Amino acid sequence: MKKIELGELLGQMTVSEKVGQLLQLAPMFYKGTITEGEITGPMAEMGITTEVSENAGSVLGSTTASEMIAIQEAYLKTNRLGIPLIFMADVVHGYKTIFPIPLAIGATWDVELAEKMAAISAKEATAAGLQVTFSPMVDLVRDPRWGRVMESTGEDPHLNSAMAASFVRGYQGNPDELAENHEKMAACVKHFAAYGAAEAGREYNTVDMSMRELYQNYLPAYTAALEAGSKLVMTAFNVVDGVPATGNEWLMRDVLRDELGFDGVLISDWGAVKEIINHGTAANSVEAADVALRAGVDIEMMTTCYLENLERLIADGALPVGLLDEAVMRILELKRDVGLFEDPYRGLKGDVDRQQDILSVEHREVAREIAADAMVLLKNDGDLLPLGATGRKMALVGPLATTQDVLGAWSWLGDMKDAVSIEDGMKAQFDQVDVAGAMDTENVTEAEIAEMVRVAQDADVIVLALGESANRSGEANSIATIRLPETQYPMIDAIRALGKPVVTVLFNGRPLDLHGLIEASDALVEAWFPGTEAGNAVADILSGRVNPNGKLPMSFPYTTGQIPVYYNHLRTGRPADAADAQEHYVSQYIDIPNQPLFDFGFGLSYTTFAYSNLELSSDTITKMDTLTISVTVKNTGTIAGKEIVALYVQDIVGKVSRPCKELKRFTKIDLAPGEAVVVTFNLTEEDLRYYKPNLDFTSDPGDFNVFIGTHLQAAFCLA
Ligand code: BGC
Repeated sequence: MKKIELGELLGQMTVSEKVGQLLQLAPMFYKGTITEGEITGPMAEMGITTEVSENAGSVLGSTTASEMIAIQEAYLKTNRLGIPLIFMADVVHGYKTIFPIPLAIGATWDVELAEKMAAISAKEATAAGLQVTFSPMVDLVRDPRWGRVMESTGEDPHLNSAMAASFVRGYQGNPDELAENHEKMAACVKHFAAYGAAEAGREYNTVDMSMRELYQNYLPAYTAALEAGSKLVMTAFNVVDGVPATGNEWLMRDVLRDELGFDGVLISDWGAVKEIINHGTAANSVEAADVALRAGVDIEMMTTCYLENLERLIADGALPVGLLDEAVMRILELKRDVGLFEDPYRGLKGDVDRQQDILSVEHREVAREIAADAMVLLKNDGDLLPLGATGRKMALVGPLATTQDVLGAWSWLGDMKDAVSIEDGMKAQFDQVDVAGAMDTENVTEAEIAEMVRVAQDADVIVLALGESANRSGEANSIATIRLPETQYPMIDAIRALGKPVVTVLFNGRPLDLHGLIEASDALVEAWFPGTEAGNAVADILSGRVNPNGKLPMSFPYTTGQIPVYYNHLRTGRPADAADAQEHYVSQYIDIPNQPLFDFGFGLSYTTFAYSNLELSSDTITKMDTLTISVTVKNTGTIAGKEIVALYVQDIVGKVSRPCKELKRFTKIDLAPGEAVVVTFNLTEEDLRYYKPNLDFTSDPGDFNVFIGTHLQAAFCLA
C-alpha cells in the first residue's frame, strides 16, 4: 500500500476507529473475546467493549506465532476496514536464546557481536509472531542503585551510541526492507529522555539536569539509534525540566521531532499517559490525554485516557482532528513498513519451518561466545587463572553454583530450564569438580555454609559462585546499598578461612561495592547474568578456552556513598592532588579515595599487550582536516587475546568546564602471541565540538590531549 492509499484509508476511518489505532492492549483482551463477544475481567474494568477491542491498533506481549495468528485472524474478521493489528513486546537480550544482559553486552565493546545478538533476537521473535521490540534501552546511567542499569550499556555516551546503533541495525536490518524481510523487526528506542538519571537511583524518581548535560551526554545514544533508523521511540516515565516526558511538548515536538528529525511512532511507556495525573501536571484523564496528544504521543500503552476522552475533545473542538490524524497516519505507516497490509502474518501462516530458528544450536553458540566475551577479569593474583582442564581438584561452591537462574531480568520468554548451570558447564570442561550450592542468594544458611566448607576443604582450588539473584535488578528493583546480600559475607569468610586459592565468579545486574569480596578472592571474574549459555561461558573463561577480553562499561564505586562516580567527570576548582596530600581544602572524601574501586574500561587478560609508537599525522587540525592517530599494539604474552584499544580526548580549555577525558573511538583487535598491529583512528574537528553556554554545538581553537590505551587510570586528570 502506498502513502497516498494510506491517506485514502485514513479518509475512510471514523474518529472512533482512529482513536482505536492509538490504543494498545495485552493479548488477554482477545482471549475468547473477539470470537465470542464475552466481556469480563480486565476488559470490563478498563471499559474495553468488544467494539473497542475490534478497533484497537496494537497488542503488547503476545508470545507465540499461533497466538498472534489466532488473534490477528479473529480481529480481521471483524475490523471494518481490515487494518491489521501490530504485535509488540520486550525482546531485550534475546527471545528464547537468552544472551547476556545489555550491561554485559556493553562490556564486550564489540559492536559486531551486539548486532549479531540483536539479529538473532529478531529472527527468533519474528518466528514467534512479534513485529516490534521495545529495545534498545539506551538510557545513560551513572547510578548502580537503579535496577535498570542492567538494561543499559553503561555510563559513556560514545559507547552507548555505538551499541544503540548496533542493536537497531541487528533488529531491523535495512529499515526500508522490513516489509520483505520477515526475519527482521522494528526497533523501539527508549526511554526518551534521560530516564537513567533518576535521582538517588530510585526507580521512577525525578530527573533534573542542565540542558547542556542532557544534550552532551544523555541525548547522543537516542540520536544514534534514530540515525540507525529506529522505527519507534518510547517515552520515559520521568519529568524532563519539570514536565512529564510523556506530556512534554517541547521534548517530543521541538527536540525529538524537529531537532532529531524523528517521524516514526512515539509510544508511551506502560501507563505513562495516565501517570501525568500523578506527576501533578494534569488534573484528570481528559487533561492527560490532551497534553500527551499535543506532545505527539501516538500510542497509549495500557491505559485508556485517549480512548475515554479523545473523541469528545475533538468533537468539542478542544483538540484539532489533525493531531489525531497525524498520530494515526504514523501508526498506519509503521504497519505498512513492516509489511502487514501485504501479509498480516508476515509469512508465518502455514510456515512451521521458522519455529526451528528458535533456540537453535547456532544461536546458542553465539550466545556462548558473547557471554564469554562479556566477562571481565577484575583480579588474577599470581596468574591463578586460567585453571587448565585437568589435574586439579576443584570445589564449586556458593549460591549460584547449581542454579539455572542465570538469565537475568528482562528475559521474560527465556526458560531457565534451557540454561546451562555453572555446575554443568564446569563439569563439561573440568574432570574433578565437587559441588555445594545454596537455595537462596538472599539467605544462605549456616547448614549450607557448613556443607560448602566440607566440600571445599580438600580442594586444590575453590570456585566461589555468588552474587545477586536475577530479580534483584531490572525494573522497579532499586537498592540503597550496592553490596551483596548480607548472608553471603559469612560464607565468603568461611571459605577464605580454608586458606585455599579462591576464584570468585560474580553474577549481578549492576556494579557492586566489592569490598569484603575482592580481598577474599585471588581471582575474580565479573560474569554479569550470562544468559542461556552461562555455565559453558564461565567454564570457557576459567579453563582458558576463552581469554577474557571484556572491559567495564561502567565504574564500580568504592562504596555506595561515592555514587555517582564516572570517568568523564568535569574538573573542579580544587582538585585533590596526590602530590600534595597535606592540602585539606580540596575536593575529596576524608574517609575514602576519590577513585572508584574499578573504573570504566578496566579489565584484565591472560596475556599482556604493549602499546608503542603513538603517532599523529599532524600537531594541528583545521575544520578541513582529518587527523590520523596511530599506535602499535603488540601481544607480548604467550597466548592469543583480544584487546580493546580506546582513544580518549581532553579539551584543555573550553567555554564551559570540559570532562577529564572523553571516549571518542574504540576498536577490538585479536592478536596471536607475539603479533603486533598498527591501529589507526581518524578524528575531525566535529569530534571536538561540545555544547557552549548558549547550547551552540561548536569547537574552540586551542590545545587538546589525546590518549590511547585500553584502560586509562584517571591519574593524568584530577577531579
Ligand atoms: C517498561 C518498558 C517496557 C514496557 C512494556 C514498562 O514498564 O518501562 O521499558 O517496554 O513496560 O513491557
